[in-house]
Amino acid sequence: MNDTPPRQIAFARPFLDDTLRSSVLRVLSGTTLVHGPVTHEFEQRFAARAFAKHAITVSSCTAGMHLGLFVQGVEAGDRVAVPAITHVATAHAARFCGADPLFVDVEPDTGNMDAAALSGALTGQDRVKAVIIVHFLGLPCDMDAINATAAKAGAFVMEDCAIALDATYGNRKAGTLGRLGCFSFYPTKHMTTIEGGMITTDDDALAATLRARRAFGYDKGLGERTRPGVYDVNALGYNYRMNEVEAAVGLAQMEHLDAWQQARALNHAALRRGLAALDEVTVFAPEKGNARSSHFCLNAVLPRDGSISRDLVIDRLKARGVGTSVHYPKALPLMAYYRERYGYKPGQFPVSEWLGDQSISLPVGPHIGPGDIDYIVGEFKEAVRRGRR
Ligand SMILES: Cc1ncc(COP(=O)(O)O)c(C=O)c1O
Repeated sequence: MNDTPPRQIAFARPFLDDTLRSSVLRVLSGTTLVHGPVTHEFEQRFAARAFAKHAITVSSCTAGMHLGLFVQGVEAGDRVAVPAITHVATAHAARFCGADPLFVDVEPDTGNMDAAALSGALTGQDRVKAVIIVHFLGLPCDMDAINATAAKAGAFVMEDCAIALDATYGNRKAGTLGRLGCFSFYPTKHMTTIEGGMITTDDDALAATLRARRAFGYDKGLGERTRPGVYDVNALGYNYRMNEVEAAVGLAQMEHLDAWQQARALNHAALRRGLAALDEVTVFAPEKGNARSSHFCLNAVLPRDGSISRDLVIDRLKARGVGTSVHYPKALPLMAYYRERYGYKPGQFPVSEWLGDQSISLPVGPHIGPGDIDYIVGEFKEAVRRGRR
């Protein structure tokens, strides 16, 4: 018997073509590997795409979020509100500054931070300096409510846009909906620079500070120095720069983004239609109010009562060649580091815990080929049938 599945569909597959390879080789054949024109062009092109005044390359989204908190004075003793279901980087950014995360549960229909829960969590807290929101799987949060709630508490809002590239809120894009936004270019994301990230902001002074302090706190960029070594350092800064090779990869990827985003939207819609009849499985809508998703993936959430086993479903899909991911493997307060440090117990963040335990992310990326969606739908239905306990 032949056990090889008829298809192999990865959860994500970055597209790296010959044009991209040529632009990387061009950088490698030149003399400028950091601080150069390719990074500058990537920043300008990205800012234009995000409808942002400034875009600042960094070495990862995590570095960008740390920098964003650090340069705005977040420090030990402060608190930073974060959703209870997200990548650990969101809360770690606060911890890097010595601040403590203030976890907030999320909405059951979107996975986004619940503005009412945020308001409750901020009540009686006097040292909340920042609110980091995550546009969960690409759908923008209810930013009007979140911004108003944060402003009342005197906190600034930073968007974790790691998987929200091109998501829209009315006529604005993710990354311009708070004071600053941070994007990720990790290989599984909407586009990649291998590792890398971008900060967007409309605030001129903040942009200048971020630029200086992603590079040691130099008071002059390389191009502004009249002779080597002519700079001063007037603030603490990190080395969180992106290099020219990564930026060349990013620029080459941007050439394809329109087509890729269109493919994601179509794949998401087709997959959602295919799974619509599965009553026990919750699939989040890619829009709510004036928010429109960037269709990072399709999340299928199994029942809260555990009557269908996520492990069995994922294992079956894997055996049938369908790659999946999990966003995210556990509610963050229950990850050992946070649980042990702050003493959280199961039951405190019910929606986040449900998503952490029962959510499966299915692929919708542009690598999906003809017939793949029907195959995923068929295999998912069968996996759910076999996953019942
Ligand atoms: C919501 C979120 N924030 C941050 C990150 C971390 O991004 P990076 O790997 O670029 O630091 C991820 C990575 O998957 C993520 O999903």
